Amino acid sequence: MLRDSDVLSQLMRRKPGYSLSQDLYCDAGTYAVDLENIWYREWLYAVPAVEVPKAGSYVVYEVGAYSVVIVRGNDGEIRAFHNSCRHRGSVLCKTKKGTNPKLVCPYHQWTYELDGKLLWARDMGPDFDASKFGLKQVHCRVLSGLVYICLADRAPDFDTFAAVAEPYLAPHDLTNAKIAHQSTIIEEGNWKLVWENNRECYHCSGNHPSLCRTFPEDPAVAGISEDGTFPPSVESHFQRLEAAGVPSRFHLSDTGQYRLARMPLLGGAQSYTMDTKWAVAKKLGRVTDDTPGTLLKFHYPTTWNHFLGDHAITFRVTPIGPMRTEVQTTWLVHKDAVEGQDYDVKRLTEVWEHTNEEDREVVENNQRGILSPAYEPGPYSPVQESGNIQFVDWYARTLIRAITGPAVLAAE
Ligand code: FES
Ligand SMILES: [Fe+2]
Repeated sequence: MLRDSDVLSQLMRRKPGYSLSQDLYCDAGTYAVDLENIWYREWLYAVPAVEVPKAGSYVVYEVGAYSVVIVRGNDGEIRAFHNSCRHRGSVLCKTKKGTNPKLVCPYHQWTYELDGKLLWARDMGPDFDASKFGLKQVHCRVLSGLVYICLADRAPDFDTFAAVAEPYLAPHDLTNAKIAHQSTIIEEGNWKLVWENNRECYHCSGNHPSLCRTFPEDPAVAGISEDGTFPPSVESHFQRLEAAGVPSRFHLSDTGQYRLARMPLLGGAQSYTMDTKWAVAKKLGRVTDDTPGTLLKFHYPTTWNHFLGDHAITFRVTPIGPMRTEVQTTWLVHKDAVEGQDYDVKRLTEVWEHTNEEDREVVENNQRGILSPAYEPGPYSPVQESGNIQFVDWYARTLIRAITGPAVLAAE
């Protein structure tokens, strides 16, 4: 099992432009180092805010050793708490989601307000001070209808990301959405392989017949533009939508943690459907363009998203073992859209249900091949896999900084 120092030395010795070492994709120690230094430190997308629609609605999100309750209070605020009772530590919420007027521990019924205050604890004696035993809070921010949490004691800056992302997201009006469908799949692969597969479309033509009806394989769409320029078709798409007041231009953060860009779909396709037409008649959001394409947003390490002219799809990546990752996909439609009338769930979801299943298979094949003693890191295509290079660079940089502090990177 690798320790911090082993992971660090493998990262320092890695060959840029090449995939990572076997240990970094397979080893249980690397997994622990990843959790400690990335997952327990960074902001993590958890759920769409509409998943906790009313006071008392809660969702439990588990990340590594942590279990977090995300709950909406009587004041409408969404908060996050460690799912561990302040009496003797029992989990408070046993189910993945639900609605309760209070948070009541199933063990001895200590009862907490939705804002985390301890309200009631039986027979704790005259000196017991309930105000000292409120639930432990987890950092929680809501960005245009997307709930992010951070498990660190001191959370990194969120405001910069929020300020950049908010104008892109606002036209999609996610607070007026509802969940049309949610799927959770388990991929037998390291979380970084799930990301790497997402960050390129080199594999699309060979694996995604449904997605390829609408999603362009053009590496300018999925990847990272080296010089900041785009092909005329993409550039004119940015210009048309920006002129209509819909933020679209490619933005990659300085740290490389997030990217926003509204990309055209293939040949005037409107949405991710098999017939390329709108999936939902009652549209979510205020984007009126007939072919707005898809706002692609990724934010490492948890989420990539597609915000379309008629609906939105959020993806949440969660490592659940050294070589096992949960991918949750949520389809959001307008809250007043009527199933069977404005949309059909199968038609809405089938392209990404197929794509997720196909991606699961390629990720699992990738993981199995890497487990071979014969595996050695291979070169990324500079044309097709700029996104992988960008992801792996972000991963290495973030981990090195977390393990060593900023000094080592500055001295590089
Ligand atoms: S452990 Fe929660 S009330 Fe006892
Ligand atoms: Fe894919």
